[in-house]
Order: sequence, then C-alpha cells, then structure tokens
Amino acid sequence: MSRPQCAIREVHQADDIKSTILRDRAERGWRIWTIGFVSVDDGYETGLLMLDFYDRTSSAKVYEVFVLDRFRKCGIGARLMERAELAARRLDAKIIELEVHPLDENIDACALRAWYSTLGFNGELDSRLMKKDLQPKHNG
Ligand SMILES: CC(C)(COP(=O)(O)OP(=O)(O)OC[C@H]1O[C@@H](n2cnc3c(N)ncnc32)[C@H](O)[C@@H]1OP(=O)(O)O)[C@@H](O)C(=O)NCCC(=O)NCCS
Repeated sequence: MSRPQCAIREVHQADDIKSTILRDRAERGWRIWTIGFVSVDDGYETGLLMLDFYDRTSSAKVYEVFVLDRFRKCGIGARLMERAELAARRLDAKIIELEVHPLDENIDACALRAWYSTLGFNGELDSRLMKKDLQPKHNG
C-alpha cells in the first residue's frame, strides 16, 4: 500500500512534534544543527527523520529515520529520505552519509542496508557507513 497523500513537515525543535513516541526520539537525538522532518498522514504524525548538516565539510548525515511500526512499508521512509536529500542539496552538501544501525527488532542490518541501496547509498560491506554523492556528474 502506498501513501501518496503523506506530507512532510520540517521541524526546528523536538517540541514541534505532537506524537509522544516521535518527540521522545527527537529529544534524545536532537543537536543544535539538526533539521527535522516529520511525515504527516491525514493529520497524524507517522515518521521522523533527523538530518545533521556540517557546514565545514559541506556534508549531511541522516542521524535517524524512524517510521511508526504500523505505518511501515507504505513508502513513508523513502519519502522522508527523499525530502532530507532535497534539503541537503539546497544547503549545497556534496555528500549525504548515514550509519546502518537498526533501531528495533523489526528490521535487521541486512534489510536496512538493502533498503538504503535502493535509495542510492553505497558502502563497503564490512562498514556501517553508507554514502550518496550529491555532486552533479559532468560528462566528458
Ligand atoms: C527503516 C524504516 C525507516 C523504513 O521505513 P518504511 O516506511 O517502512 O520504508 P518504505 O516503506 O519507504 O520502504 C519499504 C522497504 O524497506 C525495507 N523494509 C522495511 N521494513 C522492513 C522489514 N521489516 N524487513 C525487511 N525489509 C524492510 C524493504 O526493502 C521495504 O520494501 P518492500 O516493502 O518492497 O519489501 C523503518 O523500517 C523503521 O522505522 N525502522 C526502525 C528504525 C530504524 O531502524 N531506522 C534506521 C536506522 S536510523
């Protein structure tokens, strides 16, 4: 089932999040340089992505992407990742990185790595780090 109506809202502090589960996660992971994205479906908050942007290295990092269990496998995680990538590009990030680190028992590292690969991330199999190059490719 896909959820084309799912909207993505940018948030600037954990307190902007209504869902207790998502707000708790944001409170634990939020740093001053974090940009948050919350997916909203029919007025209901369904997922959270925290993106860190590092001006000095022109790089961005997906610190955490989390979709409430009952809303998973509907395309919401991918929508959050796409939105984060767009934000990173707008900030002129050259690269977006993440660490493969399952946050609950419902998805394992192998499935998570495969999912990130479908979103264009690459990395060595013996490392948790995955990256996506955001620089435009020039032919010739
Ligand atoms: C990873 C996560 C964000 C994906 O969100 P989602 O909304 O389910 O993702 P999408 O619907 O866009 O993509 C679904 C795809 O993700 C993968 N996937 C999601 N859940 C999975 C599971 N339990 N087992 C295996 N693959 C899974 C599959 O490739 C799936 O594609 P399919 O439906 O064709 O099999 C979600 O599973 C989650 O919140 N997990 C817990 C938090 C976490 O570990 N986050 C990552 C580290 S920060």
